Amino acid sequence: MNYMLAPSILAADFTNLGEEMKKTEDNGASWLHFDVMDGMFVPSISFGMPVLKSIRKATGQFMDAHLMVQDPVRYIEAFRDAGADGVTVHLEACPDVGAALEKIHACGMKAGLSICPETAASEVEAYLDQVELVLVMCVHPGFGGQKFIPESLEKIRAVRDMAVKRGKELNIQVDGGIYLTNVREVLDAGANVIVAGSAVFGGDPAENTKKFMEILRSYE
Ligand code: DX5
Ligand code: ZN
Repeated sequence: MNYMLAPSILAADFTNLGEEMKKTEDNGASWLHFDVMDGMFVPSISFGMPVLKSIRKATGQFMDAHLMVQDPVRYIEAFRDAGADGVTVHLEACPDVGAALEKIHACGMKAGLSICPETAASEVEAYLDQVELVLVMCVHPGFGGQKFIPESLEKIRAVRDMAVKRGKELNIQVDGGIYLTNVREVLDAGANVIVAGSAVFGGDPAENTKKFMEILRSYE
């Protein structure tokens, strides 16, 4: 299993974004997590295609777009055109989940399905054959810097069990409230793609990335 760190630029210093991203890439973060918020599916608004287009040329990292967006199928082509490598949509935000996942694949990207804390892990089972990634939200989506919800661990285990039962190579991503102090808990539960915003960009992104990568590499 590969273990990846996906720093969330939501927590980065936007006056120095290129530098901050490079510090994570230079220290082993092979993904970059791009938290898109529309003010409808989640209360806040973050950023969208123009920012992605601009940062795409500045990094070789896997651009992992997390659409916290109502009816996201409307934007999948636009995120492909802006340079996304993978798009993750929320099960709770899609009138037709299957159609949204099909659209992501039709656009040549990796497909991810995300569930909020209040959504049961069993809800993703019907879509496992249509995704490369399941994102278990460990906070209520909409803001960085929240506290990790402990019940997330059981959900991570449940999704990993489903994948193992099907013999499916599945990336299980976790997002929200992940720090150096609790990352081993989510790794032990079966997660292999770690989103961290505050824990990476709060402080020195190079040092923080190095410390996360040391832990992730010990699981390889
Ligand atoms: C929630 C966001 C956050 C962010 C990471 O909507 O998706 O989870 O990426 O947050 P922290 O700062 O807790 O790592
Ligand atoms: Zn996210």
